Amino acid sequence: MAAPLKVGVAGLGTVGSALVAQVASQREQLTARCGRAIDIVAVCARSRAKNRGIDLKKMKWFSDPVALARAPGIDVFVELIGGAGGPAKSAVEAALASGKSVVTANKALLAKHGVKLAGLAEKHHVALDFEAAVGAAIPIVKTLREGLAGNKIERIYGILNGTCNYILTRMEQDKLPFADCLKEAQRLGYAEADPSFDIEGHDTAQKLAILASLAFGTKADQSAIYVEGISSIAPADLAAADELGYRVKLLGVAVKTPKGIEQRVHPTMVRKDSSIAQVMGVTNAVTIDAAGINPLTLVGPGAGGAATASAVLSDIADIARGIKTAPFGLPTARLTTVRKAPMQRHEGGYYIRLLARDKPGTVATIATRLAEQDISLESIVQRHAAGAAGAESKNGPVPVILITYATSEDAVRKALAAVGRDRVISGTPQVIRIEKN
Ligand code: HSE
Repeated sequence: MAAPLKVGVAGLGTVGSALVAQVASQREQLTARCGRAIDIVAVCARSRAKNRGIDLKKMKWFSDPVALARAPGIDVFVELIGGAGGPAKSAVEAALASGKSVVTANKALLAKHGVKLAGLAEKHHVALDFEAAVGAAIPIVKTLREGLAGNKIERIYGILNGTCNYILTRMEQDKLPFADCLKEAQRLGYAEADPSFDIEGHDTAQKLAILASLAFGTKADQSAIYVEGISSIAPADLAAADELGYRVKLLGVAVKTPKGIEQRVHPTMVRKDSSIAQVMGVTNAVTIDAAGINPLTLVGPGAGGAATASAVLSDIADIARGIKTAPFGLPTARLTTVRKAPMQRHEGGYYIRLLARDKPGTVATIATRLAEQDISLESIVQRHAAGAAGAESKNGPVPVILITYATSEDAVRKALAAVGRDRVISGTPQVIRIEKN
């Protein structure tokens, strides 16, 4: 049997600790499957004294991740520190440059420096694997890179942030306010250290940048992504969506269009009977549209220590077996620059919720402004002020909910700007894009 694979792990938070526990508990199975044992021989974390409930006695302790990354006697460096720069980046670069394969769960690092790091891995003939960076336990990276190596992908979209899906699910099912659901997500350990990163869509954008690169052979580019989070979603939107046969999900979508690749993150109305609409709680899901296999949906736990460690361990097992694939599925020299499709030219259906002044002619004015932009309505619902969610008083503004047929983002923005100038509505209109699925 080949010599054991020697692993150094930097970062012993929930994921690192779960990884140490899984390597110990799965030792026999891993040895049989990989043809060699996997040994975590060294670790690095900020506090040595902290009780993590795992046995670290046989492991060498490092306080500097770069020193661990360069340490002789390590075959694979596992980076679980996080962050787009700082010690995580320095340590990954140091490991690759010293000829060690790297496994990382760091979406921020990959979304920003993935191409450069992949180039470094190529130069030193080592692996750079990151299954855990997107969708935690869902094997979406390997699915795109290996399972679908021969397919032409047209669109990929998914629920990529467990915190947001958890919040939207609890708000819808338990009729709880946004803030209470966020607190609970933090308590359960799903949210990032700064939860605005989750709820404003940036976590999803980093994951989407990685998926789009794998799906379309482009250089990961987070700056090419249009991003909107869920903080403006009100219980009134979830209730209206439900009545109209939709559910609201924060989706990351990357799609080929004649104008380039559209990459966007925003709250999205999805039909209640679609597979993505069934995905509730912290669960993540990714759907891939490619000729002949439509739709392929992968669903699973997208956050949490054990789920993320499971993906990290699968990458370590690949390296133990001698599998080395181009990190983004193509040699870096063949990755193309994203041709960004402008968001104003996005086409699709729209949900629009307005608070209309309760005066004769208001709805006619709104309909006229939409018609001027060639926007055709699939449905329009006007509620009475009394008891209506969002209404101010009996004679105050009344919610009007519109569903449009496919139109352009530009047309919707222009029509709503004109409605605003007409002074027939209160507040800012709520606009949620509808994704066909
Ligand atoms: N904060 C992330 C989420 C963790 O909620 O999905 C996994 O990346």
